[in-house]
Amino acid sequence: MNLTLYVWRQSGPHDKGGMERIEATDVSPDMSFLEMLDEVNEKLIREGKEPIAFDHDCREGICGACGLVINGIPHGPGERSTTCQLHMRHFQDGEVVYIEPLRAKAFPSVKDLVVDRSALDRIIEAGGYVSVGTGRTPEANVIQVPKRDGDQAMDAAECIGCGACVAACPNGSAMLFVGGKVSHLASLPQGKPEAAQRVQNMSGAMFDCGFGNCSNHYECEEVCPKKIDLKFIAKLNREYQKSVFSRK
Ligand code: SF4
Ligand code: FES
Repeated sequence: MNLTLYVWRQSGPHDKGGMERIEATDVSPDMSFLEMLDEVNEKLIREGKEPIAFDHDCREGICGACGLVINGIPHGPGERSTTCQLHMRHFQDGEVVYIEPLRAKAFPSVKDLVVDRSALDRIIEAGGYVSVGTGRTPEANVIQVPKRDGDQAMDAAECIGCGACVAACPNGSAMLFVGGKVSHLASLPQGKPEAAQRVQNMSGAMFDCGFGNCSNHYECEEVCPKKIDLKFIAKLNREYQKSVFSRK
């Protein structure tokens, strides 16, 4: 199939940027979206033009590097899919496709479709350490975890830090991301000793980095490739309140 792409081109952080029309020809429906961009870049290089800059790493839906806004939707039209796992069969021959970076105040532009998402790493850093017992390896059942808590921790830990939730939110809020990170540790006994300090530090870092607050638009869960549940934002708020009242 043949597609008309409108791609965001921006030579650097200080360039104003704009949409560029590029024709993508002979696109196989079995290609991933990033493979389609690879082919477009090969053609641009053959023509002596600058290839489109975009982020990627694992191409298996697990690293979170590949977030793009496709036709206005972070990660595009696929259900529970990252951009790298989105296939071209979701598009029709002759379709016009708009490709933009994940836009948010906390994600400064680098080049074309690449933005700097290191603010998410700074939030993780602010979370600090998790204390672990040293010495002999403990017997597997010494710390018993109810299945419900274990399941909840696993569901929250699924977040891959892609930042799509931030780009989808009109407030540029990172609360789904932070909710996932805080909840997965706060759900387990091993994560409890530092839980109060962790939620305080991560929430502080979130606002310092320029992310907005949650005002219940629900767009974050809608675009999240791992379908991190909104209940983790509620848990983040509860953990924060608990930490305020437990302060000595
Ligand atoms: S919560 Fe979902 S959308 Fe947000 S960073 Fe994690 S995986 Fe990506
Ligand atoms: S490239 Fe790793 S999740 Fe897409």
